[in-house]
Amino acid sequence: MGLNYYQIKKNVRRARKLVIRATSNAGSGHPGGSFSMAEIMGCIFFKYLKYDPKNPNWEDRDKLVLSKGHASPGLFSNMALAGYFDPSELDTLRKFGSRLQGHPDLKCPGVEFCGGSLGIGLSFSVGSALAARIDGKPTRIFTVMGDGETDEGQVWEAAMTGAKYKVDNLTAILDRNFIQQDSYTEKVMPLDEELVGDDLSEMWKDASRWKTGDKWRSFGWNVIDIDGHRIEQLDHAIKKATQTKGAPSIIVARTIKGKGVEHMEDNPKWHGQAPKKEFVPIIDMEIDSQAMIAPSIIAGDMTNLENEVKRCTNGRADYIHLDVMDGMFVPNKTFDHNKIRELRPLTVIPFDTHLMINEPVKYVKDYVDAGSDIITVHAEVCDASSFGQIHDILKANQVGVGLAINPDTNLPEWAIPFIPKLDQMIVMSVVPGKSGQKYIESTHEKTQQLISTLNQNGFDGYIEADGGVTLDNIGLCFADGARAFVGGSAIIGQQDVRGVIREFRNKIAHARRKGLLQKAHDLGGNELVAKWIDLHTIGEKRNHLTAIARELGYT
Ligand code: DX5
Ligand code: ZN
Repeated sequence: MGLNYYQIKKNVRRARKLVIRATSNAGSGHPGGSFSMAEIMGCIFFKYLKYDPKNPNWEDRDKLVLSKGHASPGLFSNMALAGYFDPSELDTLRKFGSRLQGHPDLKCPGVEFCGGSLGIGLSFSVGSALAARIDGKPTRIFTVMGDGETDEGQVWEAAMTGAKYKVDNLTAILDRNFIQQDSYTEKVMPLDEELVGDDLSEMWKDASRWKTGDKWRSFGWNVIDIDGHRIEQLDHAIKKATQTKGAPSIIVARTIKGKGVEHMEDNPKWHGQAPKKEFVPIIDMEIDSQAMIAPSIIAGDMTNLENEVKRCTNGRADYIHLDVMDGMFVPNKTFDHNKIRELRPLTVIPFDTHLMINEPVKYVKDYVDAGSDIITVHAEVCDASSFGQIHDILKANQVGVGLAINPDTNLPEWAIPFIPKLDQMIVMSVVPGKSGQKYIESTHEKTQQLISTLNQNGFDGYIEADGGVTLDNIGLCFADGARAFVGGSAIIGQQDVRGVIREFRNKIAHARRKGLLQKAHDLGGNELVAKWIDLHTIGEKRNHLTAIARELGYT
């Protein structure tokens, strides 16, 4: 299908909401494992898998084998988005007569493997890969496995067989979420190391304890270790895996069970339990409130931008914001596409290119070719015709489409028809031109108003707050509706980029939790607030929520 990073991200968000809808409706099912593999599935379905939903048995199709079949809602939600059936069919999940059962079944067109009995998907996949080779077909097999199911001896028999027959048309992805039914994998049957306490984050923090990849390597597989919630890492890993010849590949994707809904995260209880219907609107809001941090490297050492990119990577930034200034649209000059091309090989983190230049339509292709993942141009220097051309160039090249407005600019009339096609809208909160300026307070109100116009016109992208964003105002910017946050002086201008990004995320978490509690209160008063808080049993979340609820007077 070949969607861009932003479109995949949006589909992942939609798929998570469909999983919630389906399982809460059914009153049972497996949201935890559907969410840990949400980005994995999104990336396979919307970038790599070859299929035709109108012709599910197309002979030259690729095959997606969901070995961890209990996570069927995570498969069906993606199949619905891919066009195999209408999303409303998910309301029939686990009902008598439905094609969508608690475990995938071949009676649902497009399903390639009857999952349910764990530990056998890889054997089936090796067989399918060999069959494709014998038939001379270009078929590629993608197999999503759970870590719990690798307790089964058959998995390792398949590992040996795959290596012996060099099935390089097979890519396995291990959803390494550290939790299996009832408990932590490292307690039941350690793949890395035995977990002594209950603090799963211990395993995450210390890469030297991860041994799973070594096991597969010793069986002769090409192993790629990644963070399985990072679309760009998945994208890069799947590309590398599909290019590897002479050995099967396995991507060990470290994930979080229940990822995206805090009370489900890292909690074995949510392996196989459905959310109650009364929580669905709150959970939907939570899924929609994912936030991204985008450090702006011009706030660093302009003579060594390579090092600034490294600092962003080490700091776990979500995007790298690249402020291109031409000395005409704004008085200053920074760098152009040549610099971006030089920086591109240094990281896989998406490049968020912000063009503060005149006549962007003339140069936008250069910035596509330099490796931008999204390009944002200014409304002040576009009209319907030039923006239409820019949009077409970006879409044709799988690059995200962004539009920016200055503090004294309102969204122009010509932009209205483009709103549903935008991946990002930058609302400038300083007069563009340099970093280190003060946030213009009226931007809060402007953003809130703009969001209602955008929503009325079918906006499905992310608002990016850019200019003067700090630890003091990021919570308010989040509450306004911004979901991506540029940080120049407040992030790159600081010594400890990783530490500051962590603090930014903490501020966002606070704002998000507050918004969700307000939603709970709107829907069901103090009683629902108390029930919502009670769901949060792991870690410090509960105490934090209780404190916020008290501040809000919800007691
Ligand atoms: C302003 C740029 C911003 C800016 C961010 O012209 O578009 O991205 O550099 O820097 P701070 O966060 O310091 O305002
Ligand atoms: Zn910018």
